Amino acid sequence: MFSDIETILYERAVIDERVKELAAQVAAVYRNNPLVVAVTLKGAFIFAADLVRHLPETVEIVFLRSQSYGASTAPEREPVVELPPEFNWQGRHVLLVEDIVDTGRTVAALQNRIRNFGAASVRVCSFLDKPKRREVPVDVEFTGFTLQGDPFVVGYGLDFAERYRNLPFVGVLRQAGTQVETNPEPNAEANAETSVETDAESD
Ligand code: IMP
Repeated sequence: MFSDIETILYERAVIDERVKELAAQVAAVYRNNPLVVAVTLKGAFIFAADLVRHLPETVEIVFLRSQSYGASTAPEREPVVELPPEFNWQGRHVLLVEDIVDTGRTVAALQNRIRNFGAASVRVCSFLDKPKRREVPVDVEFTGFTLQGDPFVVGYGLDFAERYRNLPFVGVLRQAGTQVETNPEPNAEANAETSVETDAESD
């Protein structure tokens, strides 16, 4: 699996240290006040799991969904975002936890939705940032690492066509194409589809 990785950018130990620092910054801003940590699935799941374990116990966690990438390394459409319908955002202080801010469209869409539901504040904490790719201005208050240029990265929650999320480090994918082979399926029908089409879920 690691043969698909061209370069490792951030090793696990470096990530762990940085996440601890970020959590300290977040905790200094919110102190012990109640905070809603809104985690964007799927990409931010590992980052958020590490981050919240360094935050005070006044934290409530909710999960959001966004989809913008299929089996490709560029956004294919406007992000589709989903918020938990039953959650009451009114008057809440929200920390939106993201895996990476790229064009900024996902964060902008989520922030607008949460604000429209009456949140008192919405700050963004992103594990990675690619400022060069920004199309929509967004204010990222807490950033783990800022990427120079425009590498397509995977690992620590980030995927390419649903793969590589489980890598403990962040690396640049060797050959980021538009399609990847999937594992063979046990039935003939599934075997007819050997590649991931662009409508595959990814985020
Ligand atoms: P944005 O709406 O263009 O800012 O895209 C944000 C989403 O695109 C992130 O939450 C990721 O899921 C995905 N994304 C952007 N760049 C990368 C990358 O380098 N690797 C993996 N996913 C990425």
